[in-house]
Amino acid sequence: MLSRPVFDYNSLNETGNPSRTQPIKTSGLNLILISMTILAIETSCDETAAAVYGETGLLSNVILSQAIHNQFGGVVPELASREHVRSILPIIRGALNDAETSLDQLDGVAVTQGPGLIGSLLVGINTAKGLCYALRIPLVAVNHIEGHIFSINLSREVNPPFIALVISGGHTLLVLVNRFANYQILGRTHDDAAGEAFDKVAKMLELGYPGGPVIDKLAREGNEKFIAFPRALMKSREFDFSFSGLKTAVLYYLKRNTEQHRNRHVADIVASFQAALVDVLVEKTVLAAKNHRINQVVIAGGVARNNYLRQRLSQRAETENLRVFIPEPVFCTDNAAMIAWVGFQKLKQGILSELNIAPVSGMNLATL
Ligand code: KG4
Ligand code: ZN
Repeated sequence: MLSRPVFDYNSLNETGNPSRTQPIKTSGLNLILISMTILAIETSCDETAAAVYGETGLLSNVILSQAIHNQFGGVVPELASREHVRSILPIIRGALNDAETSLDQLDGVAVTQGPGLIGSLLVGINTAKGLCYALRIPLVAVNHIEGHIFSINLSREVNPPFIALVISGGHTLLVLVNRFANYQILGRTHDDAAGEAFDKVAKMLELGYPGGPVIDKLAREGNEKFIAFPRALMKSREFDFSFSGLKTAVLYYLKRNTEQHRNRHVADIVASFQAALVDVLVEKTVLAAKNHRINQVVIAGGVARNNYLRQRLSQRAETENLRVFIPEPVFCTDNAAMIAWVGFQKLKQGILSELNIAPVSGMNLATL
């Protein structure tokens, strides 16, 4: 039986730019364990989440969605940090209990380093550092977007190359995933993220936060052809997106019409908005796959929960001979299971981080 390597953090050289992850030199350490178990922590925005992942797969997945932001129609960063501080330890305890794993059985801790809200990220990162220091196990920093990209692997194995459409409250990215840790960003939004557009339109119509799930449900009763909202950059051969014009078009439409009209046609308005946004997402994703001769497409992030998008992309994929992979809804929105999956791969490959890492709010995919 191989013994677990002990990390003597007192002997580590704490030099280097603290905002960058520097792989620990693992020479001399035998990282090939018979069985590895990792705890993952995700606190980049308004979900406090922890998960445990082992050789057999996901062992637990605990998520607390902070309800405090609902009344404000969006995430209040200061409140998010405070909520993370309050909840992080019980959430970790819950994940360990569900996985029937004790702290001394952990071989590493993975944590989201960015992108995200600095105050929120700090809570997760510092908790992870404390655990690693006390338990003398390695820290594994994970990029949140990389987590979303591979969230599909929590349900089924999808091997690169594939095109990933990452659509969440903070991001809209089209990525060519050549292999693990080798990504090419094909396009991104010039302004609002897809989820942000859902949230802002819901706010205009006083439908509550987060807006995506409410619009998804309400739109089923509406006529998507009721208003022809703009589909920005739809005809361009590039893969970038822009949703702020669509959001403004909805705002002007509401201003031009009476409140009675709005109340009578709210389902039609949101169905038309959703159709405009989804049209662009589907077109660009299919175009990216065809241009790069890739026949696998993965969608990820909170907006990937959208039923209309799931249905439209699946239909389109059939006619285009593409295979579309969509994670289970619980793995689309922010969660620690996806951080655990990426962290587990990195731990196995010995891609570790030092204890002086800092959060990176605008972290891009190439940083790690
Ligand atoms: O991935 P996520 O949990 O957090 C970020 O990393 O941003 O995504 C949250 C976003 C919110 O904007 C929310 O409105 C959107 O995902 N969302 C949806 C649906 N469920 C969540 N958008 C459209 N349809 C849904 N069913
Ligand atoms: Zn996310």
